[in-house]
Amino acid sequence: MKQYSINKYLPKASKIAYGCMGLGGGWNENPVTTENINQARSIIETALESGINVFDHADIYTFNKAETAFGEALKQDPSLREKMYIQSKCGIRFEDDSAPGRYDFSADWVNKSVDGILQRLQIEKLDVLLLHRPDPLMNTEELAEALLKLRNSGKFEHLGVSNMNHHQINFLQSSLNLTVVANQVEMSLANLDWLNEGVMVGTPDENNNNYVAGMMEFCRLNDIQLQAWGSLARGVFSEKGINSEHQHIRETSQYVMQLCEKYEVPSEVIVLMFLLRHPANIQPIIGTTNLDRIRASTTATENSLSREEWYHLFVKARNSKLP
Ligand SMILES: NC(=O)c1ccc[n+]([C@@H]2O[C@H](COP(=O)([O-])OP(=O)(O)OC[C@H]3O[C@@H](n4cnc5c(N)ncnc54)[C@H](OP(=O)(O)O)[C@@H]3O)[C@@H](O)[C@H]2O)c1
Repeated sequence: MKQYSINKYLPKASKIAYGCMGLGGGWNENPVTTENINQARSIIETALESGINVFDHADIYTFNKAETAFGEALKQDPSLREKMYIQSKCGIRFEDDSAPGRYDFSADWVNKSVDGILQRLQIEKLDVLLLHRPDPLMNTEELAEALLKLRNSGKFEHLGVSNMNHHQINFLQSSLNLTVVANQVEMSLANLDWLNEGVMVGTPDENNNNYVAGMMEFCRLNDIQLQAWGSLARGVFSEKGINSEHQHIRETSQYVMQLCEKYEVPSEVIVLMFLLRHPANIQPIIGTTNLDRIRASTTATENSLSREEWYHLFVKARNSKLP
C-alpha cells in the first residue's frame, strides 16, 4: 500500500490523528481546571497506547484552553513530548472590539499566534504549523517572510494548510520557500462534497458543492497529506442515527449497524473505515473525548470495506442515487 504522504515528513506519524478541539473544558470563559488537565493527560496516554501519535490543535480551540490543558499535561510528564507529533493552526481571529470574526495572515498576527501556541503547549517547536483558513487579504511576500523567519528560528518544522483549494495552495506555494505538507479539510460520511465533486462532472443538478474539483487529485499528486476533520461525522451515524427524523440518516445508520455486526466493531470504526477505504490515504482526525471510542477508532485500519459496502454507505448517506 502507498505510504501516507505525511510519512515523508513525519516518518512515524500514525494513520489516525487525535483532534484536541474537545479539550480544555469547552467554549466558555471558565479557567482551565485540574480536571481539564487530567482529562488531557488521560486522552494523550490513551491515544499513544492505542497507536495515535499525531495531535491536532488550533490556537482558537476552546478559546486557547485546549492548548493550555494539553501543555499542562505535557509539563506533568515531559517524556510524552518525544512520543508525539504536534500540529497547531493559526490565522482565525474572533470578533473583538475592533472588528468581527475574521482571518489574519499578517506577519504580526502569525508571529503573535505562534508564540502563544508554543507558550501554551509549553514546547519549543511545532512539528507542523497549519494556516487555518484562507485570508483574502493575504500578502504572500509578507507571509512568506514571516514564515521563513519563524521556521529558521526553530518555531516550527513543516508547514500545512487547512480549508484551502488547490489553486490557493499552488498560489501560496509559489511564493514560499517551504513545502506545504498537509491540507486539512472536512471529509466524512456526513459531509460528502469531497466525493460528490468527482462524480457530478457534467451533471448540473447538484451544484451546491463546496469543493473545488481537482483539489483531492492535486494533493495526491503533490504528496500533500489530506487530513479529514469531522471524520467521525460527529456521531450522526451511530445508534442515535437510527431514530433520526431524516430517512437517509436512519437508513445509513441501520446499514452502519449491519456492518458493525459483520466486522464486530462499534459504529465509529465503520464511519472511519469509509474514509480509509478511499485510495487517497486520508488521515482522519478524530475529535472524540471518549476513551473507549479513541481506543476503538484505531482498529479501523485493521479491516477494509468491500467495494459494494463502501458504495452502499456512499449512496445511502448522500441521499440520492448516483448519476
Ligand atoms: N481545520 C478545521 O477547520 C477544523 C474544524 C473542525 C475540527 N477540526 C479538527 O478536527 C477534529 C475532529 O473534528 P470534530 O470534533 O468536529 O468532529 P468528529 O471527530 O467527527 O466528532 C467528534 C464529536 O462527535 C461525537 N461522536 C463521535 N462518534 C460518536 C458516536 N459513535 N456516538 C456518539 N457521539 C459520537 C463526539 O462525542 P464524544 O466526545 O462523546 O465521543 C464528539 O462530540 C477536531 O478535534 C479538530 O482537531 C478542524
